[in-house]
Amino acid sequence: MKRSLVVISALIALASGLLFTASAQDAPTPEQAAAAAADTRQSLFKVLRYNLGGIAAMARGAPFDAAVAERNARRIAAMAPMIPELLAPDTRGFDIETEALDKIWEGNLDDIAVKAQALVDAANNFASIAAGGDMAATLGGIRALGGACANCHDEYRVDNN
Ligand code: HEC
Repeated sequence: MKRSLVVISALIALASGLLFTASAQDAPTPEQAAAAAADTRQSLFKVLRYNLGGIAAMARGAPFDAAVAERNARRIAAMAPMIPELLAPDTRGFDIETEALDKIWEGNLDDIAVKAQALVDAANNFASIAAGGDMAATLGGIRALGGACANCHDEYRVDNN
């Protein structure tokens, strides 16, 4: 009994020492943390684009599929609330790849939240239209959905169009 307690406490001491060493070695530099934050938010935006792209393709002649249009819009509505969360880390001043404008972190995170919510609303609205199955109405709703993306890009993303 006594000996096993000694062994257990020795193991705990060893494990916590290893954990400490690992966390000391793994702690990212502020620049690495900023690069990772930018990478994560850009990944979200790429997945948003993937889902919008499937809808936009129908406007360019791909076969119309109301169920896919609705599904993709519901995905966008589900993911858009992550935008404010993933744009919260302030990555100004680091040498990283980003198209995010500095003004995001100059008192505009509340506006980012408003614009992200506008995208949620637009995506839900579009999904309801698509659920009706009417091709003309669904394709006609794409502009409003894409507009909710552009409204934020126009103000907070490098203008590269
Ligand atoms: C509330 C603001 C906001 C909304 C809404 C928004 N974006 Fe963005 N988007 C940004 C910002 C800021 C960046 C730049 C991120 C970076 O480079 O770090 C960006 C970048 C992107 C990128 C480039 C990602 C990359 O680095 O490859 C794509 C693609 C994109 N957005 C698509 C979309 C689509 C599609 C929607 C709508 C379904 C959308 N965005 C809605 C703010 C927004």
